[in-house]
Amino acid sequence: MSNDAKHTGASSPQPASCKIGAGPHAAGGPAGKRPAPPCTLVIFGAGGDLTRRLLTPSLYNLSVDGLLDDGMRIIGVNHGERETKAWIDDLGQSLKQFAADKASESHGGRVDEKAWKWLSSRMTYMAGEFEADDVFDRLKERIDQSSHGNAIFYLAVGARFFKPIVERLGRHGLLKEDAQRKGCFRRLVIEKPFGTDLASARDLNAHILRFAAESQVYRIDHFLGKDTVQSVLAVRFANAMFEPVWRREYIDNVQITASETLGVEGRGKFYEQTGAFRDMVPNHLFQLLAMVALEPPNSFDAEAVRNKKAELFDAIEPLKPSDVVFGQYETGDAGVGYRDEPDVAQDSTTETYAAARVFIDNWRWAGVPFYLRTGKRMAARRTEIAVQLKRVPFLLFRGTPVEALTPNIFTLRIDPAHGTRFDFNVKVPGPAMQIGAVRSAFNYNDFFAERANVGYETLLYDCMLGDVTLFQRADSIESGWCAVDRVLHPEGGALPVYGYPAGGNGPVQADELLARDGRAWRPLQDAE
Ligand code: BG6
Repeated sequence: MSNDAKHTGASSPQPASCKIGAGPHAAGGPAGKRPAPPCTLVIFGAGGDLTRRLLTPSLYNLSVDGLLDDGMRIIGVNHGERETKAWIDDLGQSLKQFAADKASESHGGRVDEKAWKWLSSRMTYMAGEFEADDVFDRLKERIDQSSHGNAIFYLAVGARFFKPIVERLGRHGLLKEDAQRKGCFRRLVIEKPFGTDLASARDLNAHILRFAAESQVYRIDHFLGKDTVQSVLAVRFANAMFEPVWRREYIDNVQITASETLGVEGRGKFYEQTGAFRDMVPNHLFQLLAMVALEPPNSFDAEAVRNKKAELFDAIEPLKPSDVVFGQYETGDAGVGYRDEPDVAQDSTTETYAAARVFIDNWRWAGVPFYLRTGKRMAARRTEIAVQLKRVPFLLFRGTPVEALTPNIFTLRIDPAHGTRFDFNVKVPGPAMQIGAVRSAFNYNDFFAERANVGYETLLYDCMLGDVTLFQRADSIESGWCAVDRVLHPEGGALPVYGYPAGGNGPVQADELLARDGRAWRPLQDAE
């Protein structure tokens, strides 16, 4: 995570740079950025969607920004014979689609052929099965030939391959740091899903830690690669006005939403096994929860931040099945129902929507409900954290009951809008003292130039630098699963799954979850 801070203000819309802290990014060029050290990046799953849609475009964007070293090499491992050229051509085609859209403003709306050539000339395809020993012999030989000996092994593969790949990397000596050269690094990047419940996550962690030290393991949650998610800490801790009210005395409730308009998009097989709750709650939504609720760390150093996160995860009260609502989309205006999607059983009871009421057992948050919801095929795409303050205690404007006032809501907007929003009250112009609700909004694009970014740039760059701030530690992953274990293995049998129309707001039972507390969800589609 970058320790660079940009500051700007209403009177000076031009952002200026300054540096805070002294992390790995602190040295270097004017914005504190320098090329990452040279390394060999080995991608297991070179033929997969992640490599095509996210990893290659991110590497390309990093190379355009001059953040990759000349000594960088990329080896893509996948089953199936293929020429390197065919692999690269295929990725180049996808790059036009995935990177160029986002790069339209900063990179002239097209792929910079020079940058792509620079990157692709460092890429090689290696055919082989993920569990075949000869793949690891060949990798060892190649990495040993490099002058630096640094290597990152990126597991962009199905979860069933995590254990066998890690084991083979270990047995072939590929995870031994310093083995080849003093000071060289060997790192392991693991995608989600990291386990399917507490027991499997513990088992996976134990297995990995037999072959690698915790400091070598980079567990990815791609939400942490989003600038707007990283910005939650900046907003909280770089401004004096938030911390004093950021506590149970002033905050009524917090709503964390990640709703999507898309359905399962050809991922029926995966989704049938996973469901919305496992897919989003103990990982992405808990990461947002941690960002909004963790105690101030002493610095932005990786362990300082990760320790505070671990404390927060530890303080999450184990979720009760009665505080969770599951839903499944049915045919509606916005499309077919989940059961009619490819690879989905006609009588599937997999949830495509999950809502939960979560409490954090600590001094700051005791009694404040955090309402979490996520769903596919909802009325709007919206990822945000809405912090609702308590109403004023007494109303001096006679004749207007306190309850009639709109509460103050501070919203951290993550996707697709990027920014913040504040709802508050003012006097309506005119002779009468009438109170009206208004909204003030900050949009990133109004202040900062749009950057080409597909979301993995910071994560890859940080991994090359050895900055683990944005990656998840074993203990936090396990605490996350621990908090939801009673929902995953309920004593009274599987939780009911309620229907909701495709393109809707989720099941009415989720509204009732909040109505019980005298509250309501924030509308998914409200005025900008
Ligand atoms: C993934 C989930 O981890 O996150 C997907 O597996 C989900 O089901 C996606 O759609 C959401 O991420 P984003 O960045 O598009 O909000």
